[in-house]
Amino acid sequence: MSPDASGPAIHYYMIRGGSDKHNVTIWETGSVGGEYIKTYGHYHIDDMDETYWILQGEGIALLQKMAIVDGHPQQDVIEEFKAIRVKAGDSVYMPPGYGHLVVNTGSQWLVTADNSLVAGPDDSASMPGHADYEQVRQMRGFAYYVIERDGAPALIANKLYKEVRKADLGGIPIVEN
Ligand SMILES: [Fe+2]
Repeated sequence: MSPDASGPAIHYYMIRGGSDKHNVTIWETGSVGGEYIKTYGHYHIDDMDETYWILQGEGIALLQKMAIVDGHPQQDVIEEFKAIRVKAGDSVYMPPGYGHLVVNTGSQWLVTADNSLVAGPDDSASMPGHADYEQVRQMRGFAYYVIERDGAPALIANKLYKEVRKADLGGIPIVEN
């Protein structure tokens, strides 16, 4: 939301073991420019799905699916958006076609395991081969940013998106910037 705001040099760490050993992600605590620390967010290139298991802490998973017009995904029109509160012991399923990111809203490091694959030795933690970060980069994030407002999570709409057709925000309020 605020690329020039100050914050920790590294927002999250990943150890990648793939679908067999699992990948472990650890989020730093805190916020950057009012926005809770989050993973960058990506869409999967193919029909791959993914499950995250929350091992420690609490957060919010954001999922969004692009609208398809004449067979082409529209990166600025979201067919469906979901915000799901998660905490240690929960799991969250990322269906095929849904971009996803996770936000750390808690006071502890958020720690997850997930089962996305690692495609060979050239597949790096920062740029896994199955993931497309470009659309998220161009749209400067997902359709909503998760910010701290009066000590609790709230959502701010990302104005670069033209439309969100269906949204389940998990009871998290939308506020103005
Ligand atoms: Fe993924």
